[in-house]
Amino acid sequence: MSLSEKDKHLIWHPYTQMKDAIPNIVVEKAEGAYLFDEKGNRYIDAVSSWWVNLHGHAHPYLAQALQNQFSKIEQVIFAGFTHAPAVKLAEKLLQHLPDNQQKIFYSDDGSTAVEVALKMAFQYWYNSGEKKTKLLALEGAYHGDTFGAMSASSRSAFTAPFNSYLFDVEFADFPSQDSNTLLQLETAFKKGDVAAFIFEPLVQGTAGMKMYDPAMLEKMLGLCRKYNVLSIADEVFTGFYRTGNFFACDHQQGQPDIFCLSKGLTGGVMPLGVTTCTGKIYNAFLSDGTDKVRTFFHGHSYTANPLACAVAVASIELLEREETKKNIERITYSHTTFASKIKDNKSIADVRQSGTILAIEFAGEKGYFSAMRNELYLFFISKGIVLRPLGNVIYLVPPYCISDKDLDEIYTAIQESFSIINS
Ligand SMILES: Cc1ncc(COP(=O)(O)O)c(C=O)c1O
Repeated sequence: MSLSEKDKHLIWHPYTQMKDAIPNIVVEKAEGAYLFDEKGNRYIDAVSSWWVNLHGHAHPYLAQALQNQFSKIEQVIFAGFTHAPAVKLAEKLLQHLPDNQQKIFYSDDGSTAVEVALKMAFQYWYNSGEKKTKLLALEGAYHGDTFGAMSASSRSAFTAPFNSYLFDVEFADFPSQDSNTLLQLETAFKKGDVAAFIFEPLVQGTAGMKMYDPAMLEKMLGLCRKYNVLSIADEVFTGFYRTGNFFACDHQQGQPDIFCLSKGLTGGVMPLGVTTCTGKIYNAFLSDGTDKVRTFFHGHSYTANPLACAVAVASIELLEREETKKNIERITYSHTTFASKIKDNKSIADVRQSGTILAIEFAGEKGYFSAMRNELYLFFISKGIVLRPLGNVIYLVPPYCISDKDLDEIYTAIQESFSIINS
């Protein structure tokens, strides 16, 4: 049996209808922006392996950081113990976060970072003795696949089997220029029972790379402040320069109370989640003596895994290099030039960009289950490019090391795909 056949026999893959699944490509190695399969075929990883890889695969600086850390301490219980990588990473993150952020809580991935944020927000009001129990989110939101994160996400085919188990969340319209979002938020906030508002800043990734204005984000955060509602920025996808700034929230002046981070946090090497909060939130969990019920009773076996923390520190050091910033600007400029070249093509309903994220929405059948999806996916794979369409939307979220030549190869394939879809 080949590896691919054994895989089919043994393994259940995520987000995959296994009955008619396209055979999985067996990746043997990866380097920089490339994946190589067992037959030696090369693929450009234009989606950074589910949006996690920042600096390219097998980066020697990250490999060295992992190896160094492994020779010291690879894993230790994080209650009663700490270690240098966890402390160093906390220091590094706080240097880049808005100055209202003061504490770092570690978990495992994007979904758990969101779970922690929600529990932190709900327990903050519980500990404060105020009856604020409601959550507000945005239509189209995706915050992860665990139950709390699913509850905070828009109801969709993803959540349908579980809807009756999810807690009640009120959804405001996606904040486009002519939407009623601000009015909807204000009306809900005025009732005084809203604990928190959770949002993906500037870009809703899973919804199809839907983008909104920083000014709108600033106004939403202003309303949270005005009505004493905790604001939770889910930067799991948008963090670490994806939108051109370190965090998407850096495009405006408002300061969220809580941040959720993951994906690019370790440069795409190890799973790790982080939830950060203000000193005010943290202080609400402090108590003396026997009043232990104010404690935040949450943790995971691998909380603050030293290998993950060490590689995250190294990844942020790479992000801080001038060379990386130049690459981010180069990719952003390149996307802008390409977007203006194709924007009037009849095959396209919309082309949009936020920093290094470029999304192209095809005209025709909309939505995650659009028939275009598989056709486009297989077309790009045949061209040696990994682009995983979200229905009728294709997008580029490349690692920052991608060359101009590879970007041009992708742009050329995208232009060719217009005629495939139209034929
Ligand atoms: C904005 C956002 N939040 C949370 C998550 C969940 O992250 P994970 O898949 O690491 O659990 C995702 C994943 O795509 C995401 O895009």
